[in-house]
Amino acid sequence: MNLILLGPPGAGKGTQAQRLERAHGLVQLSTGDMLRAAVAAGSEVGKRAKAVMEAGQLVSDDIVVGIIADRIAQDDCKGGFILDGFPRTVAQAEALDTMLAERGMKLDKVIDMQVDDDILVERVSGRYTCAKCNAGYHDKFQQPKVAGVCDICGGTEFKRRADDNAETVRSRLGAFHAQTAPLLPYYGARGVLGTVDGMAPIDEVTRQIEAELGFAAA
Ligand code: AP5
Repeated sequence: MNLILLGPPGAGKGTQAQRLERAHGLVQLSTGDMLRAAVAAGSEVGKRAKAVMEAGQLVSDDIVVGIIADRIAQDDCKGGFILDGFPRTVAQAEALDTMLAERGMKLDKVIDMQVDDDILVERVSGRYTCAKCNAGYHDKFQQPKVAGVCDICGGTEFKRRADDNAETVRSRLGAFHAQTAPLLPYYGARGVLGTVDGMAPIDEVTRQIEAELGFAAA
């Protein structure tokens, strides 16, 4: 099964992609994580993306399409993948259609994670992740079971993102409404769009996504 999680910054795309990966063996493909890795490595792509990401704008289509085309070609994607943060423009969606058709692959579902803008800033500004395995947490909504220890890998170092501040989140939200929201009618017209209430508790959102995908509750 190949799917897209679509939603604004802080909607819970990464949180749910990690859960689906662990429960169902689908591979999470996060363009945000890939770009942050490129920035940290100081690669050519990272140098081009850094300032754009810090401003909360979208990195150019050619860069992200190239990254995803390389990643989808890898063997571990053959069993199914979850696109988290891609596509984000109609041009990226069209490029995805082409690359899937070239590989004889298809898109099974697009999940629209609906969350009101006013709660997204609180979600994003309270977010942190395990420095070792990247598991996601939140100061208020999703704390580790043992304070200071990652539930997944036992790591004790955590990090916060440079673009997780109120000003940049507003810019990222603007980019979402202007450039990414047009994907909803794009996929609606193809009959693959499902909707979940991204404001429900995390377990309930997972249950709604699994129902949309036809998975039995985990
Ligand atoms: P990216 O990393 O994709 O960021 P984003 O889309 O802004 O999404 P986030 O990662 O902020 O949110 P999320 O939906 O994953 O939420 P999460 O699960 O963490 O992109 C970053 C930048 O890279 C972009 O701005 C752009 O510059 C560039 N970029 C990336 N892809 C690109 C592309 N395709 N084209 C061009 N540029 C691109 O949840 C947030 C917090 O809320 C967490 O702490 C979590 O614990 C908590 N939470 C989650 N669900 C719930 C819930 N149901 N209830 C309460 N709390 C919850």
